[in-house]
Amino acid sequence: MMISSAMNAKLNEQIQGEFSAAHGYLAMACAFDAMGLKILARKFLGQHEEEREHGMKILHYLQEVGGTVTLSAIDEPRTDYTTAESIVTAALDSELHVTKMINEVMALAESEKDYATRSFLQWFVDEQVEEVSQMTDLLNLVKMAGGNLLQVEARVRHEMMSNK
Ligand code: FEO
Repeated sequence: MMISSAMNAKLNEQIQGEFSAAHGYLAMACAFDAMGLKILARKFLGQHEEEREHGMKILHYLQEVGGTVTLSAIDEPRTDYTTAESIVTAALDSELHVTKMINEVMALAESEKDYATRSFLQWFVDEQVEEVSQMTDLLNLVKMAGGNLLQVEARVRHEMMSNK
């Protein structure tokens, strides 16, 4: 095995964190859908898929370096959302939480001089900068729009189309 057992455990924790984030986004997408905000629902479904891919990326890395994948229970997602703002606030909190987790794995890789894992994790560090920034912008947009969520939907739809 190319990694330490401590790193193996930490990467399994990160898989759990990514899958829990994915599950959280799925619940958020359902909450948007229930509010009739179909574009935001679609955007958050996309986030759900991305988080799932993050979990799978780590899982495959663990296999590649000869580690042991241990799957654990996924956190039950919050479902008591009543406003779009509460959903996006929770999404930003989730991204900040995942960022903190990634930074902790990175710190372990550095302290162990595990350069392969450090290199692998750099993509996640960069990805978190993008995701935190994206959710911060969306939260500001929702706050600025006040009750006019259709305007938010139009803007998000436009961004989704131009990112294709
Ligand atoms: Fe994979 Fe946005 O955390």
